Amino acid sequence: MATHVYGTPCQTERLQEVADAAGVPLVYDSAHGFGSRRWGVPIGNFGYAEVFSMSPTKVAVAGEGGLVATRDAGLARRLRTARDYGNPGDYDTLFPGLNARMSELHAAVGLNWLAGLPERVAHRGTLVAEFAAGTAGLPGLRLALPEEGDVSTFKDLTLILDADAFGLTALQLADALRAEGIDSRRYFHPPVQRQRAYAHLGQAGTLPLTDRPADSVLTVPLWSHMNAPVVRRIAAAVARIQPYAERLRTA
Ligand SMILES: Cc1ncc(COP(=O)(O)O)c(C=O)c1O
Repeated sequence: MATHVYGTPCQTERLQEVADAAGVPLVYDSAHGFGSRRWGVPIGNFGYAEVFSMSPTKVAVAGEGGLVATRDAGLARRLRTARDYGNPGDYDTLFPGLNARMSELHAAVGLNWLAGLPERVAHRGTLVAEFAAGTAGLPGLRLALPEEGDVSTFKDLTLILDADAFGLTALQLADALRAEGIDSRRYFHPPVQRQRAYAHLGQAGTLPLTDRPADSVLTVPLWSHMNAPVVRRIAAAVARIQPYAERLRTA
């Protein structure tokens, strides 16, 4: 399973090669990707299936719920049955299922949000470009950006910090931004193996490649009706904080 995290399209063709070589179906967590494109092709067209979320923090929102996109007619049929308790229509259930139907109310909200989605995605891209311009040249800072030619929903505007070069960890920058009245989130920290629910499995210290990005990302505010001065203000705060990194660290 691969994730188009923050809406950044995965390298779908390379992942497909890996999955094909291993003989396993490739499923995408496309929770953030409704409106993203890989080489012009909308996310939702890749792998065996792609699973979208339409919960409240996403760019395409239905209140709750989600969608599965697949070209496999058998899988589509099974999912339609599974979301209705395994009921094929005659209440003689074929297999154990769930009550996972999308309600009419949620569907109506979702349809309303789909209108204007391309414009919202484009606007978010413009805002991220503003942020990138406002923080250009800061040492140890890069953004989670799509590859050239791809489109991201920018479900999140996420900074990836090299703490040594930037002078502050993601946590320290979050504290400094809070002092400036700017909220931020460490998506996704702590990683699963360090969360209290799973710590008993004893894997906390065994996944350095998971810890590294989890420790170095910080998501700053971005919303679809945000205007450029707000994003410029956030970028200016980051740019203003960085030269004081050493003093903040030792304060
Ligand atoms: C990457 C990712 N996958 C899956 C989900 C779960 O989506 P849902 O809450 O609609 O089940 C989320 C929720 O935020 C997410 O960020």
